Amino acid sequence: MKNIGSVKEDLNTEKRISITPELVKKYINLGFVINLEKNYAEHLNINDEDYKKNGANIYSSKEEVFHKSDIILKVNFLTETESNLIKSKSIFIAQFDTNLNKNITSKASKQDINFFSLNLLPRITRAQSMDVLSSQANLAGYKAVLESFSKFEKVIPMMMTAAGTIPATKVLVIGAGVAGLQAIATAKRMGAIVFATDVRTASKEQVESLGGKFLMVEGHENLETEGGYAKETSEDFKKKQEDLLSDTLKKIDIVICTALIPGKKAPLIIKEKMIDNMQRGSLIYDLAAIQGGNSALTEIDKIVDRNGVKIIGDRNILNKLPISASNLYAKNLFNFVLNLYDKENKKININLEDEIIKKTLIK
Ligand code: NAI
Repeated sequence: MKNIGSVKEDLNTEKRISITPELVKKYINLGFVINLEKNYAEHLNINDEDYKKNGANIYSSKEEVFHKSDIILKVNFLTETESNLIKSKSIFIAQFDTNLNKNITSKASKQDINFFSLNLLPRITRAQSMDVLSSQANLAGYKAVLESFSKFEKVIPMMMTAAGTIPATKVLVIGAGVAGLQAIATAKRMGAIVFATDVRTASKEQVESLGGKFLMVEGHENLETEGGYAKETSEDFKKKQEDLLSDTLKKIDIVICTALIPGKKAPLIIKEKMIDNMQRGSLIYDLAAIQGGNSALTEIDKIVDRNGVKIIGDRNILNKLPISASNLYAKNLFNFVLNLYDKENKKININLEDEIIKKTLIK
């Protein structure tokens, strides 16, 4: 198991890559061989020469890459065609939703393929350098703020000018996890007044340390699982959260939605009638769009206009900063491979006593 391969993603939906030229050298230093499909990162202005000079092999077709490689690294799951090309007994590592890809994994598991999904990484200290959920969510939170600020037709910070005072923009961040906290920090840096809410009480302190004002749904226990994720909320909680947010939304200019529950549809938090009460010219950026959306009117890859309120939900916001996202993603992957690699015996070792390996392996 020395041959690592990576092929081009579907560029219509994914611009990130799994191996950067700088990492080719690192893999080769460990004794791996790197096989890439021709024009692998051309769309990011990285050409094949950049890879070749660091020691990678470039092949003109996906077929050849799969044929030569026994470890496949990708961003997304295998396509139907690729699932017929992957060799039996290979290792496949990517960031994918196991529920959505059950058919292919069960078909391919008959050929003894070891599938690892980085979405399943435990949030433990040792896994931090591999944590794609955090590295990508952090960038998504940042970019969601920039995207919404650029579409908002007013300035963000308070400005006191001879012609009069412009008030600061008011931003509400729903869900204060990794993406939400970065959204709060970014919006604050640009001079907005920031409010945030979450079902995990631990996030109150984090929001406040970034200068945000935490909006607490009163009378409820901490809705946090042992793993640090959110639990689904009760009907009573939903009603109280709706009352709290309905009032707040009337005064808010920009809402950044980031609320998620792992493995489930995103919670619906902003109902239609709440949007109807928002001021014309305000805007909702729904980062949870692809998981179903936190707002009732979100449509993927569309800007919906409801009585002057814009609702934006990109399929993949990381495509708007694919170079930074790839740099971090590729490093996370490299650290994951490093953890699978037994340095003493110079071979890949799927050690199921290692929590990281055990939890990410699909059975
Ligand atoms: P996520 O992407 O699953 O969810 C985003 C946020 O939405 C979470 O803060 C969640 O509590 C919130 N949320 C869910 N339902 C909601 C609702 N109905 N109303 C309002 N908010 C709602 O979460 P993410 O960003 O992946 O973070 C999950 C946890 O993992 C956090 O506790 C974070 O601090 C922790 N973490 C730990 C790391 C470690 O290495 N120890 C690394 C990264 C994150």
